Amino acid sequence: MEEPGTVVIIARPGSDWSSSLEVLSERYAYRVVLAGSAAEALTTLSSIHVDLAIAEDNENESGGLDFLAGLRVSHPDIIRVYVTPKSGSMLEQTLAKAAIFQFLLKPLDAAQLGLVVERALETRELARRHRILSREFKISGGALMFAERKTALFRPESQRFEKLVYVSEQMAEMCDLARQAAQTELPILIQGETGTGKELLARAIHYNSLRRGSPLLVQNCGGMPDELLQSELFGHKRGAFTGAISDRLGLFRAADGGTVFLDEISEVSPSFQVSLLRFLQEGEVKPLGSDKVLHCDVRIIAASNRPLKALVERREFRQDLYFRLKGFEFEVPPLRARPNDIAPLAEFFAAKHADALGRKILGVSASVIDKLSNGEFPGNVRELENEIRRMVALARDGEYLTTRNMSPALLAAAPRERPGAGGFQPEGVTLKDQVESLEKQIVGRALARNHWNQSRAATELGLSRVGLANKIKRYNLVPSG
Ligand SMILES: Nc1ncnc2c1ncn2[C@@H]1O[C@H](COP(=O)(O)OP(=O)(O)OP(=O)(O)O)[C@@H](O)[C@H]1O
Ligand SMILES: [Mg+2]
Repeated sequence: MEEPGTVVIIARPGSDWSSSLEVLSERYAYRVVLAGSAAEALTTLSSIHVDLAIAEDNENESGGLDFLAGLRVSHPDIIRVYVTPKSGSMLEQTLAKAAIFQFLLKPLDAAQLGLVVERALETRELARRHRILSREFKISGGALMFAERKTALFRPESQRFEKLVYVSEQMAEMCDLARQAAQTELPILIQGETGTGKELLARAIHYNSLRRGSPLLVQNCGGMPDELLQSELFGHKRGAFTGAISDRLGLFRAADGGTVFLDEISEVSPSFQVSLLRFLQEGEVKPLGSDKVLHCDVRIIAASNRPLKALVERREFRQDLYFRLKGFEFEVPPLRARPNDIAPLAEFFAAKHADALGRKILGVSASVIDKLSNGEFPGNVRELENEIRRMVALARDGEYLTTRNMSPALLAAAPRERPGAGGFQPEGVTLKDQVESLEKQIVGRALARNHWNQSRAATELGLSRVGLANKIKRYNLVPSG
């Protein structure tokens, strides 16, 4: 599923981008986000995957160019296009600092802009493929390129859901459902251990919902005194409590039409739970110290790293609120339950931090991936990212990340138990999932060895032909080219 690309435009107040917007989103089907300021553009960049940024300046201004120069450092992957009224030799000098892909002179020609954006994205895609191929070639020393290899160097291309990177079945399934859930109006509950990507998922959902044009506001509910949390979300009247020196709107009303992300929802008080329930049921907001009931339209996404179900059983969390919150429920699996995500994540973080630190790293060596795959990662993806960031900082230009740069704790991690050995790698957490994943691999290999001659493979495995046919069907096995 190839996505057409996302473009952010940082527009000057009063300038008219309507025909460009039309060309980019109608003719080319790009997703276009119009930001009114640099700050707004940065919030967008932190939430969604952006491919290209367009900034503009008027006569005697340089805010747009400065923004692009900053982007070169903070988000070097994003292609930069500049729109300016002036031409001449001075321009060339100033352009160099932002290393822009192309500049366009005002008045802007929408068709020309469309073409420039298309070419820019094509160029980047070609560069990406070239990078992958030349890396494969280097690792394999060229000669091994087409020979059979024991290591999984030809890894499947990773998938993305906004900023989430993954290849595992578990994540693919979860993100597919999340894409659908995003389109509905139901509240969403996201659970999972610390550092698994709950907030990233919440942001991805908001930006894939019909509310993406309205704000996503975030409230961490952990460690907040009840009164403060109530007033943050529902607002207050002046004088409602000591320190309430003026009226406060509250997050729910500030996010009207958009989404509120309530993090660490397990930590809220019983009385807050009642207010939240009322809000979910009736859309009613009553600011502290006011008896006026106001209405607003906000979608709630809540997250917790403590399982709410257990808290409900212990009567520490209201059951009716729990049921209301989980219009859709997502459990982000811990990293150790999806070890095949480790390689693409490590590569992704290596590239990200190499860019950020201005390092030229060739990639992550297979021995590092091997070691990382044994790690327990109690801090999940966050811990993996920290490890890679540290390794990039220690690595030398023009090299791969090697086990030399790894932190002692991870280096010492014992290899995981690998039942069956022989390069079989179980997937999943439960015994049933792991056994099934092994069975699938064993049957698949027997078939491949016997060139899909099913009677021979069945004999080898000690199965009847019908028994083998059932397993092929059950695991969707197909001959690979
Ligand atoms: N699948 C992923 N792809 C890329 N980056 C990820 C992924 N999952 C997590 N991260 C990164 O790991 C870090 C932790 O993610 P996030 O803050 O979403 O986790 P969390 O589940 O909300 O953690 P906590 O419970 O501690 O708040 C972030 O820097 C995020 O960018
Ligand atoms: Mg979080």
